[in-house]
Amino acid sequence: TTIVFIQPDGTRREVDAKAGESGMQAAVRAGVDGIVGECGGACMCATCHVQVSEADDARIGPREAIEEEMLESVLDDVSPASRLSCQIKLRPDLEGLVLNVVEVV
Ligand code: FES
Repeated sequence: TTIVFIQPDGTRREVDAKAGESGMQAAVRAGVDGIVGECGGACMCATCHVQVSEADDARIGPREAIEEEMLESVLDDVSPASRLSCQIKLRPDLEGLVLNVVEVV
C-alpha cells in the first residue's frame, strides 16, 4: 500500500507500507520527518498527529474513543481532519492515502 506524507512545507514523500502496519510505523521506518511515534503506537503521545482530507477520513473509518480522547487532551482545537497515524491501520484499500504532517505543539 503506497501512502503519501506531506510536510508543512509541501514536500511529498511516498512510502510503501506493509499490510497491518500503522501509518506511524510506516513513517518511522521510512524516516518521515515530523512523525515521531514516541509512545510506540499506544495512543499516548500524539507525536504521530496528521491531518487528512474528508474523503480520506471516511476511508480510514471513525476514530476509536482512545484516539478521540488523546486528540482532545493535546490539541486546543481538534479539527475533524486530525488523526493519530498510529491508529490508522493500513489496508490495501487505503492505497494513495495522504497524511499531512503537522507540527506537534
Ligand atoms: Fe503515540 Fe500515536 S505514536 S499517539
